[in-house]
Amino acid sequence: MSADAAPVHARGLVKRYDDVTAVAGVDLTVQAGDVYGYLGPNGAGKTTVLRMLLGLIRPTAGEARLFGRDPLVDGARALEGVAGFVEEPRFYPYLTGRKNLELLAALDGHGAQGRIGEALDIVEMTDRQNHKVGGYSHGMRQRLGVAAALLRKPKLLLLDEPATGLDPAGMRDMRALVARLSSEGTTVLLSSHLMPEVEELCNRVAIVRAGRIVYEGDLISLRARAGGHWRLRTTGDDEALRVLRAQRGLTAVEREADTPSAAGALRFEGDEAAVAALSVALVESGVGLLELTPVRATLEDVFFTLTEDAAEEPAPPPTTAADDAGALAA
Ligand SMILES: Nc1ncnc2c1ncn2[C@@H]1O[C@H](COP(=O)(O)OP(=O)(O)OP(=O)(O)O)[C@@H](O)[C@H]1O
Ligand SMILES: [Mg+2]
Repeated sequence: MSADAAPVHARGLVKRYDDVTAVAGVDLTVQAGDVYGYLGPNGAGKTTVLRMLLGLIRPTAGEARLFGRDPLVDGARALEGVAGFVEEPRFYPYLTGRKNLELLAALDGHGAQGRIGEALDIVEMTDRQNHKVGGYSHGMRQRLGVAAALLRKPKLLLLDEPATGLDPAGMRDMRALVARLSSEGTTVLLSSHLMPEVEELCNRVAIVRAGRIVYEGDLISLRARAGGHWRLRTTGDDEALRVLRAQRGLTAVEREADTPSAAGALRFEGDEAAVAALSVALVESGVGLLELTPVRATLEDVFFTLTEDAAEEPAPPPTTAADDAGALAA
């Protein structure tokens, strides 16, 4: 293992199935310590990318490296220090959870047997360890999957929608678990179709649509991109509108009544300096302020814009990690 190679480094990954392009040229770099969210709607190619990273399928084009090693060339050695699962973790249904872990630990070596108890404990499956996996709920199988991953003491954990299908408490526990593993030094790449999940857990995100990355950057930059507008209620909207339109630095001035949402307010976009100048100008014009509030766009809005806009058009070229500030593809 080269000490300084990124946990995940993929360039130009493509996977085609007959006429379906599941992954259309993905560049992805996950740095040590990241909790990286690979976010996209159904069919965006999330599972397919994780499969290629794990060496489960061969890319049509491009290459993937885990800590500098190629899973297709280096085989099992490339997966040293790497664990995870795609879609559902697979177990023998007629064996108990514990027995399944024992079999995996025997394959693994490296002291994995000695970690079974702790792994079961971490995912809170100790009391069900002697029940057959066939009788487990989806959430229990998911947690056993994470326990299996933990046996390997992974430096890098690849998780395919780990919280999907879990009930709210199960989701909370899974997120807490990911946060805990991250705080203990595990690098995590997880796929998700839930922006709030990625927002809560991840420091960095790629948003994917139809096999391509349409946004790549840190969460802080994405939040800044989200932008937003201001909402204004006054004692005299006609005069206020005149002042707004005359005020430098303000754009998209309109009555909310003109929009499908609530009536009775004005809205506009502008930075804080322009808004401060506006408030003075309004008062000078004899207009009283009833409300002046920033309305931030949610990241959920950004996600939908990026993944639903012009979905039928050919996707733009991917944006890569090169621009650390994060950038939207044109
Ligand atoms: N083995 C396969 N044979 C044919 N098509 C495939 C295969 N695997 C994936 N695809 C197609 O590739 C596209 C991406 O699939 P993938 O499972 O990677 O999406 P995903 O982002 O994981 O979606 P989901 O959120 O539903 O899990 C889909 O159109 C899918 O039908
Ligand atoms: Mg999937």
